Amino acid sequence: MRYLVTGAAGFIGSHLCEALDAAGHEVGGVDSFTDYYDPALKEENAAGLDVVRADLAEDDVAALVGGTDGVFHLAGQPGVRASFGDDFPQYLSRNVLASQRVFEAAAAAGVRVVFASSSSIYGDAERYPTPEDVEPHPISPYGITKLACEQLARAYAQRDGLDAVVLRYFTVYGPRQRPDMAFARLLGALADGGTFELFGDGSVSRGFTYVDDVVDATIAAMARGRAGGVYNVGGATEATMREVIALAERVSGRELEIVRGEPAGGDPRRTAADTARVRSELRWEPRVGLEEGLEAQWRWASSRVGAR
Ligand SMILES: NC(=O)c1ccc[n+]([C@@H]2O[C@H](COP(=O)([O-])OP(=O)(O)OC[C@H]3O[C@@H](n4cnc5c(N)ncnc54)[C@H](O)[C@@H]3O)[C@@H](O)[C@H]2O)c1
Repeated sequence: MRYLVTGAAGFIGSHLCEALDAAGHEVGGVDSFTDYYDPALKEENAAGLDVVRADLAEDDVAALVGGTDGVFHLAGQPGVRASFGDDFPQYLSRNVLASQRVFEAAAAAGVRVVFASSSSIYGDAERYPTPEDVEPHPISPYGITKLACEQLARAYAQRDGLDAVVLRYFTVYGPRQRPDMAFARLLGALADGGTFELFGDGSVSRGFTYVDDVVDATIAAMARGRAGGVYNVGGATEATMREVIALAERVSGRELEIVRGEPAGGDPRRTAADTARVRSELRWEPRVGLEEGLEAQWRWASSRVGAR
């Protein structure tokens, strides 16, 4: 099959391109190499991939989507903390506007879109583990833009028959993780002897999900997802930041120097995925446990000392 991957130079998108290529598909990527984090890292991610430089919020999306059998739409502006304040227009443009243009083009071309949404749409959820059908209560501007994208997909499905599958990823980690994310910051600090800023007291917990598992679920969604389906993609292990730090110290054999910061506004206290639906409908389950995944990311982070 011939697929378009948006956000192909990003953390998850670059892994997805490699997996699709390894499975024998023809893969084209698109990315605008935004400066949310160092674009040089995105150049590294994209090395060896076929990635067109274009901005989905401005450039001709129909030309990119045309001739493909499906679109994996991962491009976006991530990050909860930065979505408050002056950078919000970037969230509107890179999430809401870019997605609206991708959905419009995919509907016109009659191809499926698998959209990377987020556990952030749940906010402080009414139930844990959280199933897909609870009422969403996003508590960050980022989460609100992701929920708006989901609703856009629904509107295009209703009017134009868009075939869209929504995946709600839960905190993804592994090699090439975005440098603003907690694991990347803490393993980077362990690798090069720097300090790690812990937001709050370390009691927040997350359903951490290894990137290879996320990639498998994303490919399964293109192949087997229900049109209009919404699926949680969450890891097997929920852990607090304190537990993660202890595990990272054990895996690395080093002690982390922690600087305490204020609790991060907009971050829910807990995320945990109910994965019953994704297990039964996509026949997917997470395979990589936290310790194994953290070891893989540590090997990657420690091989890059001096590179960050
Ligand atoms: N990493 C996670 O834990 C996580 C969790 C939930 C959801 N997600 C979602 O998954 C997707 C991928 O996340 P990631 O962590 O790999 O982020 P990332 O920032 O590494 O990748 C996103 C890529 O999209 C590109 N992009 C942004 N706006 C664009 C535009 N207008 N046109 C073309 N390209 C554009 C960026 O340059 C970047 O390379 C994002 O949509 C994110 O919101 C990620």
